[in-house]
Amino acid sequence: MDNHCTFKIWHKKKKEYINCKFPICKNQSNLTVCEIHLPLNEIGPHGKMVLCPECQDKMGEDTLKRHLDKCKLKSSQNKNKKRKITADDNTIITPRIWVKNSLKITDIPETIIQKIENIVNMNYEKFNIQISKRLLYDERIISTDFNNIYPKEQLIGKNSKNIFQEISIFENAKNLNLIFMNDNNDENGKNCFKINKQNEDEDEDKNEDKNENENENEKIIEKEKEEKENNNNNNNNNNRNNNIIVELGCGAAELSKTFQIGCKNHSSHILIDRMQYSSKNKFDKDINDKLKKLNQSKGLNNFLIRDVIDIKDMTMTNYIKENQEKEENNKIIFISKHLCGNALDLSIDKIISYYQYLKKKNITRNNKVSMIVATCCHYLLNSTTYCNFDYIQEILNITREEFDYMIRLTSWGTLKDTESNHYKLGKKIKYILDKGRCEFLKSHGFKNVEMVEYIDSTYTKENTLIIAYN
Ligand SMILES: C[S@@+](CC[C@H](N)C(=O)[O-])C[C@H]1O[C@@H](n2cnc3c(N)ncnc32)[C@H](O)[C@@H]1O
Ligand SMILES: [Zn+2]
Ligand SMILES: [Zn+2]
Repeated sequence: MDNHCTFKIWHKKKKEYINCKFPICKNQSNLTVCEIHLPLNEIGPHGKMVLCPECQDKMGEDTLKRHLDKCKLKSSQNKNKKRKITADDNTIITPRIWVKNSLKITDIPETIIQKIENIVNMNYEKFNIQISKRLLYDERIISTDFNNIYPKEQLIGKNSKNIFQEISIFENAKNLNLIFMNDNNDENGKNCFKINKQNEDEDEDKNEDKNENENENEKIIEKEKEEKENNNNNNNNNNRNNNIIVELGCGAAELSKTFQIGCKNHSSHILIDRMQYSSKNKFDKDINDKLKKLNQSKGLNNFLIRDVIDIKDMTMTNYIKENQEKEENNKIIFISKHLCGNALDLSIDKIISYYQYLKKKNITRNNKVSMIVATCCHYLLNSTTYCNFDYIQEILNITREEFDYMIRLTSWGTLKDTESNHYKLGKKIKYILDKGRCEFLKSHGFKNVEMVEYIDSTYTKENTLIIAYN
């Protein structure tokens, strides 16, 4: 077995990714990386990985004390010099850790695969999985909502893959009114984004009565009409309407950038990723510049926060101020493109507990929480990290061990040959796992939860969104 770190480093001269040369280090999650490339908060050979408060270098806690003495001395000597650029800063374009699943498909006994295939095929219908197809990235959308800002060459062939995904996620959110859209006729920033309280009440009642099988398009058109009426109505509510966009596992924050453009810059941004990204490879500055400009010209208080933190450790109330939560109308939307395996289940826990916190404080009327997330890498899950094993066990009647094997087979769901039985089985299991997440969200207070195919599978096989809102 190759015992070198699997982290990919961009080699500037060769213009290609090369493997990190350092050996794999001992760490709690058995990540196949060296100590330098362990993520923050992971327990490595020198304790928990933390950042030095002085120089921002990453290291084990045990090393920090000794390092700090030297570092403080150095920084007092070099006060005016720029701090040295660390490996993380100048070399890594898209940090990605390949956590090798200890279970290999080739090691799964054929009899177990057969059994799982039979169980899944026999019971698949019982899950009643419905996937609406909403591929929302056509020319009309790009020209109207995105003002043709993308150069032509970015919109053809393979290059277009990311942009189309981002636009489609945004448009899906917009069509479900998960964000406030600026009323273009209203020049005054303080008066834009008005909604009528009374209509919002009716809105909620209607949602409850809605027949699940109702035609998708009708639903969207109806919603759009309602929103327009809401915007046109006079009302006494002088509070500001804010979009607060929380991107989970944001990487470079490209999806947030697209949301900001779609929202015509009327948005605040919270960016969460446990990896530290170098400043020149992320879009934070871009987003922040536009945000500040609009804040100045319209007297708004939109903000941007990036937190280098594991999703499991994040606390929403650290980011949104109490008076904003109390006095303003907020649409808080959790977004993500390709939240790998376990990270989505951690997120679901966080989103639910934040929603329940708002509910307890009785402020869900002016704080609408929603989630729109593209799922991926289901094979990284296991029966303990997945959020709804009970639901799946009840329908399939399988053991935890069988469930872990079943999860591993989702790797087949991204095979090229979409006619093969392996592909079909892998895809079905991916859908079942996502459906279980939907049920979990439903049973924890989200009335509307759905699965949506948001981009054509020729671009990516990971083309499912989970959307939840009230
Ligand atoms: C597949 S990448 C997607 C990045 C970006 N959304 C995109 O589409 O390009 C997944 C990202 O999630 C981050 N991530 C994974 N698990 C996480 C966790 N538990 N907490 C915070 N970030 C996590 C990784 O560091 C990585 O940047
Ligand atoms: Zn490394
Ligand atoms: Zn993934």
